[in-house]
Amino acid sequence: MPVVTPRLSVLSEDFAADPYRHFAQLRERTPVHYEPAIDSYFLSRHEDVQRVLTDHEAFTTETLQVRAEPVMRGPVLAQMTGAEHTAKRKIVVRAFTGRALQDQMRAVRANTAELVAPFLARGRMDLVDDFGKPFAVRVTLDVLGLDGRDWQRVAAWHSGVAEFITSLSLTPERRRHCLDCAEQLEAYLLPVIEERRRHPGEDLISKLCAAEFDGIAMSDRDVTALIINVLVASAEPADKTLALLFKHLIDHPEQLAEVRDDPELLTAAIAETLRYTPPVQLIPRQAEEDAVFGGATVPAGATVFCMIGAANRDPAVFGAPDAFDIHRRDLGTARSFTAAAQHLSFGAGLHQCVGAAFARAEIETVAAMLLPLLDEVRYSPGFRYREAGLYTRGPVSLSLDFTPVR
Ligand code: HEM
Repeated sequence: MPVVTPRLSVLSEDFAADPYRHFAQLRERTPVHYEPAIDSYFLSRHEDVQRVLTDHEAFTTETLQVRAEPVMRGPVLAQMTGAEHTAKRKIVVRAFTGRALQDQMRAVRANTAELVAPFLARGRMDLVDDFGKPFAVRVTLDVLGLDGRDWQRVAAWHSGVAEFITSLSLTPERRRHCLDCAEQLEAYLLPVIEERRRHPGEDLISKLCAAEFDGIAMSDRDVTALIINVLVASAEPADKTLALLFKHLIDHPEQLAEVRDDPELLTAAIAETLRYTPPVQLIPRQAEEDAVFGGATVPAGATVFCMIGAANRDPAVFGAPDAFDIHRRDLGTARSFTAAAQHLSFGAGLHQCVGAAFARAEIETVAAMLLPLLDEVRYSPGFRYREAGLYTRGPVSLSLDFTPVR
């Protein structure tokens, strides 16, 4: 009797528990996977994902009008095209590169020192809850020029906004909750925008307020949307990447020892962490015309999800793709944070991440400070590792023990 393999669903609990177990099957058997419950297509091969992200005529970001705009309170960068996109993207890029980047690393160091201090004598810290989440939000607030003391309120609103964007289906109650969070975040930002228009500083909000597009200053709605865009885009992937980096190094003690001996290897370890376990797992697009991938057709108008985790482990591009190896030659550490990256963790094409250089510097800086402080770092006794998230994915917690610092 033929063995019937049960149909895989990316919406199942089994898939959510460990998507990586299923990626090879998706790439090999159903590289164009249809999910009827949400009427969407999932692409898992590196070549197909790259094509969708770089063919901007055939695959647009139109879907973000319903997936993001309601909680962003206006259009985000990823929705824009042409001259408007280039001009507004440039403002954000400038705020996260060059001299601005060096100033921001001072904020990264100060936040790291302050957040880790209470845990050093105890010899135990949850790298997600105690450190990573407050760290990533506080650093983003510093860069934007918002008050770091507001981080808990902002983090709560931010999580509602992120839930809206990253949920594949939402109950009406959760939808209302997410929209409430977005409204409160907007109400918090509007007086700040008004104040920065009158008294500009060096921060990103002031720069957005001062910027002109076609000779016209951006409206409060446009500025609000870009602030929320940066807040949501930068905080969550950063704290997930930091936790995943430590997890992989603890799981590979010989590679951890090498990084401790030669901190220059940290960049390679971060690049490989991004390839191996990308914090942003799905990127949505809309097919503008019928598109054929290896014989299967995605119809015009369909929503397409690019599966970054699956594409990054495609054996057509990476040798031994399921191994974590900071020395792999097919990745290329330097280009991993540029438009020439082989992995797709920062996306590709016009909308590739504007924060890649910042993310690299931020995670390098914080990890280089934490590693010497967390001597003999290991999982706490009884700790059970669990990841969550289909759209963005990372450790639920990461309780670590280390030699207490007297
Ligand atoms: C490890 C950290 C990060 C990862 C993995 C990541 C991932 C991504 C990905 C996958 C995209 C493409 C989305 C698409 O094509 O629809 C993107 C876009 C974007 N990212 Fe990041 N990101 C990170 C850090 C940051 C930081 C620190 C910032 C802060 C500035 C940032 C700001 C943005 C913005 C504004 C966009 C939209 C760009 C556009 O549409 O032109 N990201 N990011």
